[in-house]
Amino acid sequence: MNTVVAETVAAEKAATAEDTLASKWRPGEFALRDAWFPVAQAPTLHKRPLLRMVHSQPFYIWRDGDRIRATDYHPIAPRRTDGSEFVSASGDYPLIERFGYLWVWYGNPANADPERMPDIPFLPQHRAQPKYAWGVNFFHCTYELVLENILDLTHIDFVHGSFSGSADSEEDSIRFESTSETVTMIRTVKNRPLSTYQREVLGASQTHHDIDAFTHIFIRSGVCFLHSHSSILPGIPLMQSNTPESSTLTRANYVFGVQQTQDKAYARNWPRTAPDIAAQDESVLNPQNPRYLRQPPRRDNSTRFDAAGLHYRKRHIALIERQQNGDFDYLPDIAEGSDLADILKVKRMS
Ligand SMILES: [Fe+2]
Repeated sequence: MNTVVAETVAAEKAATAEDTLASKWRPGEFALRDAWFPVAQAPTLHKRPLLRMVHSQPFYIWRDGDRIRATDYHPIAPRRTDGSEFVSASGDYPLIERFGYLWVWYGNPANADPERMPDIPFLPQHRAQPKYAWGVNFFHCTYELVLENILDLTHIDFVHGSFSGSADSEEDSIRFESTSETVTMIRTVKNRPLSTYQREVLGASQTHHDIDAFTHIFIRSGVCFLHSHSSILPGIPLMQSNTPESSTLTRANYVFGVQQTQDKAYARNWPRTAPDIAAQDESVLNPQNPRYLRQPPRRDNSTRFDAAGLHYRKRHIALIERQQNGDFDYLPDIAEGSDLADILKVKRMS
């Protein structure tokens, strides 16, 4: 085979592989299990139960004296005899309070290992953040679309342009890495013009800045970390839960690592933009859901800028295939890679 033919064959094979990937990716159709989900902020929990859903399964979370419990029945209702296979004999799901959240285990209770919980280096492990630093948003779509949207670097420019400014920068590059459970994207931007918001509301006097932006996603649970370092503006890392309540609703509990900036006014004011930013995402995601959910597979029209999103689809499909074959384990490759505090460039809280 001559070189030109060989290259054409290789290109066609690659295109077929991408098409196969696109047609195999069916968001909202398979519930990945054996993972921890941060379903409620700890300060919001009292004796009266909170109802949370994970993949359409009910979790009643309540304080029972000194204990915190998560059950598949309401405490004033009789115990269900047809309860979930994910609860113990007492009807309890495994639960852990950490990073100011109540984390429930969706999966086989015998596999509920606290080691499987994400490491969040920018949050204190044993206390909740101040009230102004956290909240909740909802996206009316399945959580896989939220994760893909977060990994799409161009969406920040056309969906959040009013905050982030023009995309007219000198250099804009992206790299990503992944494990069997996570996808990390790092975007480096040089000499980007500041937005009116950044100049007039945040009070920046310069006209341009450099940015390193980070996105880190946990495929099973949907938990993600977002952080952006500007050469002149303060920055605060964010954890967003993206919990799949159902295939048409994603609960995004969010909390900011406000200790990571010295700028007290910014630490108080930036978290207030969260509902506006989420509304911008919702305006894109809500109409997307019916186009994906329970629709026949179709040709993929992604561009090279969607590389991180395509990689996420590949990892997501691989996890589903393993679970369909009864393998719910975590692979050893998740221990590889650098300390997350170094990748995100944050100081580790204790
Ligand atoms: Fe967004």
